[in-house]
Amino acid sequence: MLFGRIKKSRHEIFDREYEFNQLTRAAEDGVPLIVLTGIRRVGKTTLVKVFLNEVDFPGAYVDVRKLWSAHRNISPEVLKKEIARELLSRKSYAPVMKLLKSLKGIRIAGMGVEFREKEYSLIDLLDDIERSGERTIIAFDEAQYLRYSNHDYTALFASLNDNYENITLILTGSEVQILEEFLGFNDRYSPLYKREHEVIHLERFSRGESLLYLRRGFEEVGMKVPDRELESAVETLDGIVGWLREYGWMRYRGKSHQEAIDEVFQRAKRDIIDELSGYSKRYLLIMSAVSEGYRSWRAIKTYLEMIEGKEINKGTLYTEVRNLIRYGYLEKRGNEYHITDPVIERALRYG
Ligand SMILES: Nc1ncnc2c1ncn2[C@@H]1O[C@H](COP(=O)(O)OP(=O)(O)O)[C@@H](O)[C@H]1O
Ligand SMILES: [Mg+2]
Repeated sequence: MLFGRIKKSRHEIFDREYEFNQLTRAAEDGVPLIVLTGIRRVGKTTLVKVFLNEVDFPGAYVDVRKLWSAHRNISPEVLKKEIARELLSRKSYAPVMKLLKSLKGIRIAGMGVEFREKEYSLIDLLDDIERSGERTIIAFDEAQYLRYSNHDYTALFASLNDNYENITLILTGSEVQILEEFLGFNDRYSPLYKREHEVIHLERFSRGESLLYLRRGFEEVGMKVPDRELESAVETLDGIVGWLREYGWMRYRGKSHQEAIDEVFQRAKRDIIDELSGYSKRYLLIMSAVSEGYRSWRAIKTYLEMIEGKEINKGTLYTEVRNLIRYGYLEKRGNEYHITDPVIERALRYG
């Protein structure tokens, strides 16, 4: 269903034909590394998961952010187990079963997998996949979290790039700058310097596409929604499919136009507070300042000094603002800072 939260197959998602075909061609051509970027809620996870369910190659999906919140330091052991577990969970998919059967070091045992040898490492698993001759896709979702590890995964990726023919990696990231810094394709000191890769960037839907998505979604559930409400929703939610979907779903669940929009804003507010709660309190204050229209460096500083009642260290604030840009929350246009997602901006302003 177009307004459903979880998508399994292609007919449940709207559009993304172009990107889907790009992924397919890259996998078929044996491109070793694909980087899929885009702001939060634009549909990266959905695209990758649907792709893995539809493409003729076996693949494993790894939610790196989830692993990071469970383990903090993501060890190769953790990744190995996760890849094996993910492959197993998708064993009803014929290409995955075929791969599992041809892996020498793994035995399917009851509900789980067993490694034939205790020392079987992540590298052994990757070697095993390579030797099976089955082209395999491994997707690391929100891959920038791999930087929080004692292990240097960029070196591993470089070695996959140089020596493995049958493995295609997909790395996704909402924190585009952080992911770029982590991978370092342009950094002479990075193991991945100048390594072969393709970048696919997911854009927001255009106004027309957003309208069509809502229309199709409502058609699918047999609802008639007035054009002016659709247009108002699209105007407010700015082509970010995560928000459009949430709106469509709320309407489907019986909310009025205004109630659904309000719910989306409340949701956005909860999300941003949640996402930034792990960092210093200052981050949320800076976001609030910008949402209130304090857009220049000087205005933000003055606002914060007013709220905090003390002078603020320039260097600290500079780093904090820069980090919000690196995490993808803020953008700099000319001399002004803007919030990347206008729904977050309005949620903070009116919340
Ligand atoms: N092409 C699409 N068509 C319909 N709904 C989509 C599409 N892409 C994403 N969604 C929905 O939007 C929400 C956010 O998508 P998600 O894939 O989680 O974004 P991201 O991983 O970029 O943050 C999800 O609830 C998903 O169901
Ligand atoms: Mg995601």
